[in-house]
Amino acid sequence: MAVSSGVKLDARALRADFPILARPMGGKPLAYLDSSNSSQKPRQVMDAEREYYETSYANVHRALYELGEKATAGYEGARETVRAFLNAETTREIVFTRGATEALNLVAYAWGLDNLGPGDLVVATELEHHSNFVPWQFIAGRTGAEFAVVPANEHGELELEALDELAARGTVKVVAVGYVNNSLGTVNPVERIAGWAREQGAITVVDACQAAPHRRIDVQALGADFVAFTGHKMCAPTGIGVLWGRRELFERMSPFGLGGDMIRSVSVEKTTWNELPQKFEAGTPPFAQAVGLAAAIDYLEAAGFEAIEAHERDLLEYTLGRLGELPQVKVWGPPAERRGGIVSFDVAGVHPHDVAQILAYDGVAVRAGHHCTQPLMTRLGVPATTRASFYLYTLPEEIDRFVEGLHRVTKTFA
Ligand code: ALA
Repeated sequence: MAVSSGVKLDARALRADFPILARPMGGKPLAYLDSSNSSQKPRQVMDAEREYYETSYANVHRALYELGEKATAGYEGARETVRAFLNAETTREIVFTRGATEALNLVAYAWGLDNLGPGDLVVATELEHHSNFVPWQFIAGRTGAEFAVVPANEHGELELEALDELAARGTVKVVAVGYVNNSLGTVNPVERIAGWAREQGAITVVDACQAAPHRRIDVQALGADFVAFTGHKMCAPTGIGVLWGRRELFERMSPFGLGGDMIRSVSVEKTTWNELPQKFEAGTPPFAQAVGLAAAIDYLEAAGFEAIEAHERDLLEYTLGRLGELPQVKVWGPPAERRGGIVSFDVAGVHPHDVAQILAYDGVAVRAGHHCTQPLMTRLGVPATTRASFYLYTLPEEIDRFVEGLHRVTKTFA
């Protein structure tokens, strides 16, 4: 396999940290090529969460005894880890959520309901995951704003020349865009799009779920207004997500969830809101999961984001090369230099579910379906694709087994 960078990641050694990768699937060694769906977890993350439960557990922000203080310190320490990871100015801009979907709904409801109306245009993209598409379509409908999309071309890349035509249709107020597309791996020029949105006086809301696990994100350099990502795709537990937002926007927004911890005072006459970020964290937050997320970030930082990216680029190029052996396979998406470690494809005449099932008999785990991107599937003219996705623990021999499995698929259906 080619080495594309001086920074080398030792995926084989790292795999020892992921106990599940050593377990067979259906009696065959597991080749887990579904990390964009959800990543596996290293012992370091599971140990950090267990140790927190064993030594530091009580409810956060409301238990005035040593365990409560330790629990709060763990939770707020995790917030600082996320702040540093994103290069955010302050932890007040870091809101923990139960996932990226909740984070994006928070923005759509709490910002959208108060800031959108007739004559306004809400712009998403044809590449969006449903979680940064449906909330905007829904809130546009609720407020009388128009909803429109930036079209994608047949390679799954955004047609940015359409932006100015869109601006002629109304006052652009929101641009919702994914950093890395989950179905094809397209890396979108988010800085450029955010710059354009700023010129229109619009906010940019970035779904960074497929970026945060694989590349360094600097929210100050990105120029967006909100960035959401989830933990479970980046070695962290399920049930934890992050919404970064510009402090001045968060300050002006109404809360989304209402209840405990997000209030300053409550009376029959009037309720006032807590400081940031608690204003957006109603109820007991997923604080043990946040500690797990911080451990995951530490783990990924130790591996090195540059090394992770280079490793995945090598795997991607290797995979694209090997798939060239199979004339029946059509790969969707842009060239390797403009995509992450995701390969979506069709096998001529075979339904993606059948492809995935035959691969699964060989222990190879891939995803088949529309990947929560139905507008993109419509654009490509297919109901679904089969998708292999890589992470820091993926090995070239897993790609070999995947390609051998595809040879079997084409023979079976010949
Ligand atoms: N959005 C996740 C995926 O791409 C679930 O598989």
